Amino acid sequence: MPAFEVHHRGVLHQLNLVMVAQFTSQEGDTSVGELQPGETQPSETQPGETQPGETPPGTDMYSFDPFAQHPFYARINHSLVQRAIARLDAARPKDKPVRVVDLASGTGAVTQLILDELEQLGRAATVIGIEPATVALEIARERLRGRAVQFVQGDADQLACVVTDADAVFLCNALHLIPDKPDVVRKITSVLAPDGFLACNSTFFTGAQTPESERFARRWIRRAFAWLRQHHPDLHPTHRGQVAALAWLSADEYVTLLEAQGLQIVERTLEQVQMPLAAVQDIGRYRLFIAGALPGIPIPLGAEALAWAAAEAARELDVTAVPRIWLQLLAQRQVNATAP
Ligand SMILES: C[S@@+](CC[C@H](N)C(=O)[O-])C[C@H]1O[C@@H](n2cnc3c(N)ncnc32)[C@H](O)[C@@H]1O
Repeated sequence: MPAFEVHHRGVLHQLNLVMVAQFTSQEGDTSVGELQPGETQPSETQPGETQPGETPPGTDMYSFDPFAQHPFYARINHSLVQRAIARLDAARPKDKPVRVVDLASGTGAVTQLILDELEQLGRAATVIGIEPATVALEIARERLRGRAVQFVQGDADQLACVVTDADAVFLCNALHLIPDKPDVVRKITSVLAPDGFLACNSTFFTGAQTPESERFARRWIRRAFAWLRQHHPDLHPTHRGQVAALAWLSADEYVTLLEAQGLQIVERTLEQVQMPLAAVQDIGRYRLFIAGALPGIPIPLGAEALAWAAAEAARELDVTAVPRIWLQLLAQRQVNATAP
């Protein structure tokens, strides 16, 4: 589930519950890797205590979580969460508890922002995180131990089992991963209260990359392959066949997708962040990203190669950060709409 993939020749490869990153090395080698998010059995919550901004100790050192803990990641998601919760707060009587779902909650980074925002407004709420990946769920439960949130293992299919008349559903940094987008949006709409909100965002859409970030990504991966050839000439990336490509959607296509399922767009913004080199290196230490970028390479060596190569690419291009654009959408179920 990395929130960062490399666009090669304008095409991003994505499959059902599988993320694929394709890169071409300096010599033109093509490598394709698959990323599997996890099982989908529902399970129950665990209470505890929160440590904001820290990855719980003892967890997977090659997880997505260090990337999600960078301040820019909290800022960009907070921007959406704050606006969504403010609209929700304005739309409901003050004394009415609200029901909020964070679908694809991952390691809980956005769930935490939602809880903080509700708490700041003094809003009583039921908050439910739904996530298929076991390891991500463990991190989220540990991070948000003691907070008023329940986690369920699963995907959009679990929505109807855990909530009805939801006041808001969040789907952050995940819609691009889901091949059947109309299906998931329909399932979300079907559990929303008549005027409930869907807040979703992604940095994987046509227009998310700037020329600088494309240039950086190409050089980064080329340098990683070069480092591996130099330090571990016995290692060879696994070569797999081409996979069917799913093109990125444009911002307009995302809007059309939501509108087709009975949602009305109430806010649509494009926001650019600068990902510091350390964040790029953290995504390069994420096991699923490594598996996609350098298939067949042992995770620790891939992490080392990508960390070194990111620093090298940044030095050669004389940059300390890489730009990236997020699409942020806030939609509302139309009062008389039924999910198609
Ligand atoms: C990049 S993470 C984002 C996590 C969190 N929402 C955030 O913004 O930090 C994407 C998450 O989507 C989950 N995911 C992938 N495919 C999914 C699907 N079909 N249904 C639900 N979740 C999915 C992954 O397991 C992963 O935790």
